[in-house]
Amino acid sequence: MALREIVKFGEDILRKKCREVTSFDEKLAILLDDMKETLQSADGVGLAAPQVGMLRRAVVIDIRDGKGAIELVNPVLVEQYGNQVGNEGCLSAPGEWCEVERPMRVKVKAFDRHGKEFTVTGDGLLARAICHELDHLEGILFIDRVKQDIPERAEGRK
Ligand code: CO
Repeated sequence: MALREIVKFGEDILRKKCREVTSFDEKLAILLDDMKETLQSADGVGLAAPQVGMLRRAVVIDIRDGKGAIELVNPVLVEQYGNQVGNEGCLSAPGEWCEVERPMRVKVKAFDRHGKEFTVTGDGLLARAICHELDHLEGILFIDRVKQDIPERAEGRK
């Protein structure tokens, strides 16, 4: 396993749509292992592949509930309920926190690293983390979801 460099806000790659994973191979396993190590080292709750420079639909999430990291490959949001407003940050924008509205509960369909499909339901922080990371796969950043638009948070800011 190896640490990967985390891309910061302002880099074009964070604005691109990611491609589906089609090969559930050793390369994917290495990417996911590296992402988990990078996430842990950065003390974050979630990391998406584009944040380490890979335009692939893969994310890792660890809300530190003792259940370990969740790997989602080609994740698709299938259901969402309620809403929650809370502070949110991103490893690509160190020190920046904004109030973002998210669903209170989400259900996601995804594949594991071996290509096996599964479903995960997340509440609260897990729901927030899942939505944040799935957004990354579409090139959407949490600052786009802030209700009051603060001019200096506009796109393109380094
Ligand atoms: Co993020």
